[in-house]
Amino acid sequence: MSFLQATGANGKTTETSRNKILNYKSFIHQLTSEKIIASDAEELNKLAAAKFVSLARDAIKNKGRFSVALAGGSTPKGLYKLLATDKFCALLDWTKIYFFFGDERNVLPFDAESNFRMANENLLQPLKIGAGNIFRWQTELQNAETIAEKYEQTLKNFFNLRENEFPRFDLILLGMGEDGHTASLFPFTEALNEKNKIAVADRVEKLNTTRLTLSFPLINNAANIMFLVSGENKAEVLRAVLLGETEPEKYPSQNVKPKNGNLFWLLDEQAAQLLA
Ligand code: 6PG
Repeated sequence: MSFLQATGANGKTTETSRNKILNYKSFIHQLTSEKIIASDAEELNKLAAAKFVSLARDAIKNKGRFSVALAGGSTPKGLYKLLATDKFCALLDWTKIYFFFGDERNVLPFDAESNFRMANENLLQPLKIGAGNIFRWQTELQNAETIAEKYEQTLKNFFNLRENEFPRFDLILLGMGEDGHTASLFPFTEALNEKNKIAVADRVEKLNTTRLTLSFPLINNAANIMFLVSGENKAEVLRAVLLGETEPEKYPSQNVKPKNGNLFWLLDEQAAQLLA
């Protein structure tokens, strides 16, 4: 069912199209933890957008706000663009949504490599999200340790945390690299075993750089975690991560196990082709 055809002739979100999107959402809403295989990247984005809307509406209804950590890389770009379209932007009170970033490259915020820049251009600016609702890694500070400490403090303030408490995001979006890394938690790196910090600087020798990333204790404390994995180049590693031996140092994505939350794997057929 391609629910986006449910829009009116003028492309605007008519009552019937809204109901169709909401009906579609009720299907998505029922899913608690699941591997969902979409026919292609476009369908993957629709499913992810419907789930985003469903989770955001629930959190705003129950708590008055929705906190989300965005993923970087290229895969979520289609989702961000879709959420910024009329069809979706009308479904949420975006002033009640607070945006964070699961990880960042140690580059300035308007660098082509910046995860903030990608999300800003495709989601935050088109939706005119207010600066008070956006919490990015302050990479202009340059020193990776300092950037991580600052972000940790920002998270502690926003979530009003007590000592040794971890933030509980309503939703954390994650991607997965061809080496099985997620966020910027790379194979055989120190940050994989971080037990106390919320935000860390992760030295990645093979990239000859230091990345900035939220830690696994934070990720696994989320209410909902949604992996978006698309493309045949991810098929091998996805099979290893989901069906292979448990090797969490080699495949960091295997460490994603929410303590008390839902885990969704949103995949396209190309990525999932070796799972059968
Ligand atoms: C990053 C990401 C990273 C990403 C994977 C997949 O900063 O690169 O946060 O974890 O999700 O590398 O990247 P693609 O979506 O581009 O394949």
